[in-house]
Amino acid sequence: MIRKALHAAVSLVLSGALALPLTAEEHISEILINEEIPITVRTEAPPYVEGLDEIMSGWLFRSEETQALQLDDFDNPSFVFVDQGMDLFNKVEGTAGKSCAACHQDLGEFAGLRASLPRVEDGKIVTMEDLINECRVERMGAEPWKWTSTQMTSVNALISMQSRGMPVNVKVDGEARPFWEKGKELYYTRFGQLDLACANCHENNYGNMIRADRLSQGQINGFPTYRLKNAKLNAVQARFKGCMKNIRAEPFKVGSEEFKALELYLASRGNGLSVEAPSVRN
Ligand code: HEC
Ligand code: HEC
Repeated sequence: MIRKALHAAVSLVLSGALALPLTAEEHISEILINEEIPITVRTEAPPYVEGLDEIMSGWLFRSEETQALQLDDFDNPSFVFVDQGMDLFNKVEGTAGKSCAACHQDLGEFAGLRASLPRVEDGKIVTMEDLINECRVERMGAEPWKWTSTQMTSVNALISMQSRGMPVNVKVDGEARPFWEKGKELYYTRFGQLDLACANCHENNYGNMIRADRLSQGQINGFPTYRLKNAKLNAVQARFKGCMKNIRAEPFKVGSEEFKALELYLASRGNGLSVEAPSVRN
């Protein structure tokens, strides 16, 4: 009974009856950050994304005020955390007595990394968090960071922003294929009491209002993302978890094979958009 009632309520919200007309911003395909870094926020969908003609950054769906915060690093609240990330990067930790910077002197060498992640290596999906923790554990003799911790999201943002403006270019073939297929399947699977798939909201209803929020395509080119709602940087898989909770489903664990496959698949749906990290959302 409850399930039915909830489902009806959500269907109503998603019916399109409350759809708003596209705002002028949605015809924008490129924005400039700091008046110098061009960011593609809208482009043709990759051929394997059957349900979309165009892919659009979440930036396009936010209010003008929220959008403005991302256009200049002085206004972007993420940079408080990027600064913390820099301190952590220079901090000696662990039994080897090393900092990240001891081995990675030039942050610029990480350019392109975010754009290509997750990737598949030796039959395993590798995310940014995996790479960072691998260095902490195996090269520094330090404790791994929790994926959703401020340390992890801050250092992740610092490394990710070295790719800012570069096109997302995640591999979907070869070794990556089976993981991509698994991610795709999850994306279209209905979960939870509300019996909804990611696609029901982010593919079939983007642009429509759900409660007070405007649905985007659920792209992940902006992660880690600063959210005004919780005033911190958010890990991409924490966002997946939040969406699953909202549809009253038992979420997969952050770092699980399911969420890693979903991350790979979602990243590939954004191939061609620019890396926007660290982005600002509501
Ligand atoms: C003892 C030296 C050492 C330390 C300390 C170290 N790393 Fe690394 N790191 C490496 C080596 C070696 C590699 C693998 C070779 C490569 O791809 O650059 C690597 C790879 C990486 C990669 C993947 C690069 C890629 O293109 O695939 C990331 C990201 C990274 N490290 C981040 C960090 C962070 C963050 C820290 C601190 C928490 C850190 N590393 C500490 C040596 C180190
Ligand atoms: C009931 C509708 C609904 C479903 C189903 C849903 N989401 Fe969302 N999601 C939202 C809303 C609302 C937001 C916040 C507004 C926006 O960015 O779309 C959001 C935001 C996101 C974002 C952040 C986008 C950005 O630009 O920062 C991601 C990523 C995301 N969802 C992924 C998922 C994934 C993965 C699934 C399936 C496991 C899923 N969502 C299922 C409603 C939904």
